[in-house]
Amino acid sequence: MDRLVIQGGKRLSGSVTVSGAKNAVLPALAASLLTDQPCEIRRVPAVRDVTTMTRLLGTLGVSAEQDLEAHSCKLTAMDTRPCEASYHLVRQMRASICVLGPLVARRGKARVALPGGCQIGHRPIDLHLKGLAALGADVRIERGDVVVDSPSGLKGTVIDLAGPQGPTVTGTCNVLSAAVLASGRSILRNVAREPEVVDFMRLLRAMGARIDADWPAGILTVDGCSELGGASHEVIGDRIEAATWAAAAAATGSDIRILGIEPNTATATFDWLASLGVGVDVLDGLHSDETGWAITAFGRELRAADVVAAPYPGIPTDTQAQFAAVLTQANGKSAVNDTVFPDRFGYIGELYRLGADIRRVPTGAIINGPANLIGADVMASDLRASAALVIAALAAEGETVIRRIYHLDRGYETLDAKLTALGAVAHREEDEYRF
Ligand code: EPU
Repeated sequence: MDRLVIQGGKRLSGSVTVSGAKNAVLPALAASLLTDQPCEIRRVPAVRDVTTMTRLLGTLGVSAEQDLEAHSCKLTAMDTRPCEASYHLVRQMRASICVLGPLVARRGKARVALPGGCQIGHRPIDLHLKGLAALGADVRIERGDVVVDSPSGLKGTVIDLAGPQGPTVTGTCNVLSAAVLASGRSILRNVAREPEVVDFMRLLRAMGARIDADWPAGILTVDGCSELGGASHEVIGDRIEAATWAAAAAATGSDIRILGIEPNTATATFDWLASLGVGVDVLDGLHSDETGWAITAFGRELRAADVVAAPYPGIPTDTQAQFAAVLTQANGKSAVNDTVFPDRFGYIGELYRLGADIRRVPTGAIINGPANLIGADVMASDLRASAALVIAALAAEGETVIRRIYHLDRGYETLDAKLTALGAVAHREEDEYRF
């Protein structure tokens, strides 16, 4: 098991190019189950969740050849008989649930282990199941698995995907995957509008699906077809990674350029950073790897600002922890609230260990800044909490050791190499403790 060692207090400089979006690539890989034609997914990040997904697809009869250098993955469903996603793989990654809709749509049945508990709070899948049941599937829970059968095929209908915490991202992908192969028309209301869902719809369209989108209204109209073909699709840049780098620059008073990201996929994020007093300029390049943002934080005093994480187009819940780390360096009192995952505050105790003035309140967290952070040993607890610790470590004086960084490896490609390229003093090493 590795740990990350960071010598803090150094300013970052230069450019960083973000990888393909983890949360776009996972459903895109699972979409290979919808056809027996080859699919090619491009800009695939070399992260652990991708490895878990290709392994899972392998157990489902899909040949998946990942080319790490080319960042591509070629997938062909060779054997259409397997329908079971085992607990052994599903418990490693909740996004395994993305195979549910494609399996039912194409193979008529699926047995997928329920993912179980999660560090960031309760994560039900009732909306996924409600959508599949509305399309005519028989849905039940058996011995910890979701079992879905649709022997005579799915039938288009009207489905409302609104949940108590807003729409569902992977639930929308699952129900959409099923609706594209259902007979007749489906109307999906209150769908998630995250850029990763829009990207997924583009892939399905490239495979031949007939989907009409009214994104401002959150409505997708789908005319089902009997089969889909293969496609070659490049996923969007990772807006969460981009926000993580921007937060790192803000917390360390650095000027950096973040490239490979479509600026309009993260407007709320960058508006929020600008409200702290950070300079945020859109870079309009000719090519996609030249577009992004220039962040200017050198010599700027950060102002306190509240964060309310909300479904798109709001500030993403996946940047909430990183923004809390920035606020430890801002002048004044800030409140952080997460309407998507109200319990996603597992990082508070570790930021406190680094010297942050932060406390849990019923609505989230209250932070007083700026705090003089001092390096310490800390423990990563989930993917974005780990990213928050990296940001705090960069802003802290002295050495911070972040343990259990396999959480970071789930979603950030070559994070240590990118940190070093930006001038941070950081390295990965084997941990003498096994937790
Ligand atoms: N919800 C329900 N019922 C459902 C599904 C969701 O009530 O059937 C609730 C959830 O409990 C939550 C809210 O709806 O309060 C939104 O959950 P959602 O289903 O959208 O989350 P998800 O699809 O499981 C994806 C991302 C997460 C990201 C969330 C929210 C992937 C693979 N995962 O999860 O990413 O936080 O959307 O934007 O796309 C991460 O990358 O660190 C991460 C956790």
